[in-house]
Amino acid sequence: MSVLVTGATGFLGQRLVRLLREDGVQVRCLVRPSSDLQSLRQSVGEVLWNGVDVVSTELMDSDRCRDAMMGCSIVYHVAAGLSGSTSTLFLSSVVPTRGLLRAASEAGVQRFVLVSSLGVYGTQAMQSGSILDERSPVDPHPHLRDPYTYSKLMQERAAWEVQQETGLPLVIVRPGVIIGPGRGVLSARVGLQLGPLMVRMGGTQHLPYIYVDNCAAAVRQAGLAEGVDGEVFNAIDDDLPTAKELLRMCRRAGHRVKSVWIPRPLIQPMAATYDWYHRWSRGQLPGVLTPYRTASIWKPLKYTNQKAKSQLGWQPSISFDEAFHRSLPSHGADA
Ligand SMILES: NC(=O)c1ccc[n+]([C@@H]2O[C@H](COP(=O)([O-])OP(=O)(O)OC[C@H]3O[C@@H](n4cnc5c(N)ncnc54)[C@H](OP(=O)(O)O)[C@@H]3O)[C@@H](O)[C@H]2O)c1
Repeated sequence: MSVLVTGATGFLGQRLVRLLREDGVQVRCLVRPSSDLQSLRQSVGEVLWNGVDVVSTELMDSDRCRDAMMGCSIVYHVAAGLSGSTSTLFLSSVVPTRGLLRAASEAGVQRFVLVSSLGVYGTQAMQSGSILDERSPVDPHPHLRDPYTYSKLMQERAAWEVQQETGLPLVIVRPGVIIGPGRGVLSARVGLQLGPLMVRMGGTQHLPYIYVDNCAAAVRQAGLAEGVDGEVFNAIDDDLPTAKELLRMCRRAGHRVKSVWIPRPLIQPMAATYDWYHRWSRGQLPGVLTPYRTASIWKPLKYTNQKAKSQLGWQPSISFDEAFHRSLPSHGADA
C-alpha cells in the first residue's frame, strides 16, 4: 500500500511517517522546496527510509500534487501553519487544503485524512464540567479566538465543501495539544507564559493533551479503519491531569516552574479589564486576553476519547505519566 503525507517534516508528521513505515507502508512525503529533510530521515532511520520517497512542491501547485497522489490510497494532510497572521494562516492552511482535496479526488485517492485541532470547538458557550466530545458544536465565532484556531476551523469547512462537491471520502482528526520530546509539557491551556513566569489560570481545568506517538497512531488509524468515512475523531490521551496537577508533576520531577496563580473567579474580570485597556490604549498591550478567548481555553471541561477508541480501534499506547517524563526538557532519548 502507498500513502501520501503532507507536513512530513513536522513534529507529528515525522512520527506518522515512521509509524507507517514500521507497518510496511510505502510513504510518499510531499514537502515544500524549503523543507529540511534531515530530521525526518533521522527519525525514520536509514533502513525504513528505503520505503520513503519525497516529492518537493508547493501545496498550491495542484497539478503537481495530483501527480504525486497517483497510486496512493490514502492522503494524510498534516501540514499547516501554526503561527502568524490570519491571512498568512489562510494562505498556508485553508487555501491549499481545498486544492489538495480536489487533487486527491482526481487522483482516485480512497480516503483523505485531515489533521485539524481540538481547538475548533465552541467551548466558550459550554457549561463548566460538561463533556466535550465530537457532538459538541464548533466555535460559531472563531475570529474572536486567535488566527490559528480560526484557520483550522476554516480549513475544516473548506474540506467539507470539497468533500460535498467531489464525494471524496474524508475523515477529520482533532488532536489536543501535542506534547513530546522537544515540545515540553507547558502550554497556553495551563496559563500565560510571561518570560520565565507561568501565570496559571485557575487550575482545575483538565489539559487536553496527547503524546506525539499516540497522536500519530490515531491519525494512522483514521486512514486505515473501515466504515469511518465522514467521521470526526478527537485525539487525546487517557488520565489527563489538571493544570494544577501538571505543575505539581513538574515540581516532583525536579522541574520547578515559577508560577503565580489567578483564581478562577478573577479570570473573567481580569480579562475584561485587560481587554478594555488594550482598546483604550490603542494596543499598548497585545490583544491576547479577551473575555471570549479566556472563556474558551481555561474552562474546566471533561474530555473523552471513546469514539476514537471504539471506531478507530486506537489506544494511547504510551501512558500520560510516561509521556510526561519523555517530554520533559531533560529527557535525552527521543523515544
Ligand atoms: N502541535 C500541536 O499541539 C497541535 C495540536 C492540534 C493540532 N495540530 C495540527 O497538527 C498538524 C501538525 O502539527 P505539528 O505540531 O507537527 O506542526 P509543525 O511541527 O510546525 O509541522 C508543520 C508541518 O507543516 C509544514 N508546513 C507548514 N506550512 C506549510 C505550507 N505553507 N506548505 C507546506 N507545508 C507547510 C511544515 O513544513 P516545513 O518543514 O517546510 O516547515 C511541517 O512539515 C497541524 O495540522 C496542526 O494544525 C497540532
